[in-house]
Amino acid sequence: MYSRIAGTGSYLPSHVVTNADLERLVETSDEWIRSRTGIRERRKAAEGETTGDLAFHAANAALASAGVEARDLDLIIVGTTTPDLIFPSTACLLQNRLGANGCAAFDVNAACSGFLYALGVADNFIRAGSARKALVVGAETLTRMVDWGDRATCVLFGDGAGAVVLEASAEPGVLATKQHADGGHKDLLYSPVGVSVGFHPGEPNAGVCIRMSGNEVFKVAVRTLDRIVGETLEAAGVDEAQVDWLIPHQANLRIIEATAKRLHLPMERVIVTVDRHGNTSSASVPLALDEAVRSGKVQRGQTLLLEAFGGGFTWASALIRY
Ligand code: ACO
Repeated sequence: MYSRIAGTGSYLPSHVVTNADLERLVETSDEWIRSRTGIRERRKAAEGETTGDLAFHAANAALASAGVEARDLDLIIVGTTTPDLIFPSTACLLQNRLGANGCAAFDVNAACSGFLYALGVADNFIRAGSARKALVVGAETLTRMVDWGDRATCVLFGDGAGAVVLEASAEPGVLATKQHADGGHKDLLYSPVGVSVGFHPGEPNAGVCIRMSGNEVFKVAVRTLDRIVGETLEAAGVDEAQVDWLIPHQANLRIIEATAKRLHLPMERVIVTVDRHGNTSSASVPLALDEAVRSGKVQRGQTLLLEAFGGGFTWASALIRY
């Protein structure tokens, strides 16, 4: 038994924040942001618009493209670092809004690797026979975490959601998934507050923010992604020349280019959305996948290599026959 992607969907909030908008907030420039990251603009959720709202729109689009009714789902997993509430999970809130009450529903927090962790879990549920139809979502409102006075991070992140419906199938499908973590690098990429550690009431946003040593993270990300894409191809017994599309986490165009080079893939076979979406954390891979499917780039039968790296550190990838 395998799982296969029956449909994809995504959603972006309508408000666009350009690099020029950020030039008015912090000491930065469109030239610096574009040359270091490849980002030109990102989306920002409206006041009151939550991660769950974005997830709901992306999920409905994925269900419609799969031709699956919400009531027929038996698993919902949401990858997110920015849940609506501490609990219930965003997956439970989404389940009720979709009318899928009764099925298993939970969130996965693996920062930017959240969607690919969730996809790996859902794939294993289906292979084990514990689920037949699963909704896997990556959804974030990262702009709610950003310290808008910190130019090193506020230019990087955006909001959005992407989703896939996985179905049990006699044909593959998902060929291989890999997940890894190394908690030893916490100080390079983290948020300093939380329920148990406590918040900082005197600080903006009660201390909720992203602390990142960008340059250090950059070096580890390039090295690590290099390893995991090789490992995933080997696990699936697929040669890099057989990969039709690389669909990477969209954190930085230079990291994406480094991974494509390692795979000897020309950039014409790499899906890039970071220029328009910024880093949407766990939403970035399913957003890029859905955009590539809807634009007609990704076709049925093609081989897709998905990968992500993020806070934890966590890293994950999936090789998929679409
Ligand atoms: N505008 C202008 N100057 C800036 C800005 C800005 N927005 N931000 C930083 N600078 C300055 C710095 O202060 C520094 O100045 P200095 O040399 O006078 O000290 C200089 O630019 C260079 O800073 P670096 O941090 O060395 O710049 P770098 O080339 O590394 O680019 C970046 C920074 C874009 C963050 C890059 O390191 C990166 O993409 N890192 C990886 C991010 C990533 O993949 N994160 C994982 C996922 S995120 C998650 O999991 C939540």
